[in-house]
Amino acid sequence: MPRGFLTLADVPVAEWPALWDRTAELEANRLATTFAGKTIALVFEKNSTRTRVSFEVAAYELGGNSVVLTSEGSQIARGEPAEDTARVLSSYCHAIMIRTFGQERVAAFARAASVPVINGLSDQHHPCQVATDLYTVRQHFGRIDGLRYAWIGDGNNMAQSWLEAAGMFGFDLLLACPSGYAPSPDHLEAARSAQKALGKGTIVVTTDPREAVAGADVLSTDVWVSMGQTDEAARRAAFKPYCIDAALVARAASDAIVLHCLPAHRGEEITGDVLDGPQSLAWVQAANRLHVAKALLEYVMR
Ligand code: CP
Ligand code: NVA
Repeated sequence: MPRGFLTLADVPVAEWPALWDRTAELEANRLATTFAGKTIALVFEKNSTRTRVSFEVAAYELGGNSVVLTSEGSQIARGEPAEDTARVLSSYCHAIMIRTFGQERVAAFARAASVPVINGLSDQHHPCQVATDLYTVRQHFGRIDGLRYAWIGDGNNMAQSWLEAAGMFGFDLLLACPSGYAPSPDHLEAARSAQKALGKGTIVVTTDPREAVAGADVLSTDVWVSMGQTDEAARRAAFKPYCIDAALVARAASDAIVLHCLPAHRGEEITGDVLDGPQSLAWVQAANRLHVAKALLEYVMR
C-alpha cells in the first residue's frame, strides 16, 4: 500500500517538525511547483468548503491539477463500491483525498488504491485539520510542547484527532464533553497508553468546561452536530452549557488562543465576540489549511 495519511500517526512524530517547517516555506512561497503534471482526485461523500477549496488551490499552486467527485455527481451514490472507485481513480490520478463516513471506509478505500490516500475527514478523525491546528499553534507560540490544550464540546472526529495528537506529542489535553458525548473509550485508551509509553502528558475528561479551560493556552471547539449525525434535538439540549464565551475564555491563560475548525454556529458552540475577537485564530487556522494541504501532498508523494 502506498504511503497515505489516514490519521495523524501516519506521519511519525519525528517527521512533523520538518513537515511544518516545509509548510512555512510553502506559505512564504505560494507557487512552488512540486506537483507539476500530477492530479489529485478529491472525493466528497459529505459537504465541504475549506477542505475542497484548499486542496483544489493547493494542487493548482503546486503546478498540478485536481478533480472533484461528489457522491451525487458520480456513481458512488448508485452504490459503486468504494474499492472499485479507488482502483479506477488510481489509474488516472497520483493521489486521492476522500471525505466520508466510517474510518473503515477510508481504510478500505486506501487498501484498494495504488496511489496515496489522504483522509479529508471521517466520522472518527479529521487529521488534515488537526495537523493545521498544530501548525497554527506552533506558528503562534513557537512550540506545541509545554502548552495546555482544552477541547470544549463534542467528543467527535476533531476531538479524537486531538486525542491522537496528545498521545503522539505528549501534551496535556483536557476535554469537557457532556455526559454520553465523550470520545470513544478506544481512542481515549490508545492516547493514554501512548502518553504512558512517552512518559509525558495527561488526558483529562470532564463534564465541566470551566475545569477544562482553567489556565489553558489553547481552547478549541467544533459544531454540536457533525455531518451525518441525526440526534440533533438531543444534542442541542445536552450541549447548551458548552459554549466558548468571553467568561469562559477569561478563565484560560491571559494570552490563550481560541481555535475553531469552522464552519461555526455563533451563539451555539462559540459566541460571535469570541470567534471574531482578538484571541481567535480561527481565520488564520482556516487560511493555514492551504499551506498544510500542500505539505501533506508533498509528503505522501515522496
Ligand atoms: N474545517 C473543515 O474541514 O471545513 P470544511 O468542512 O468546510 O471542509
Ligand atoms: N465535526 C465536524 C467537522 C466539520 C469540519 C463534522 O464532522 O461535521
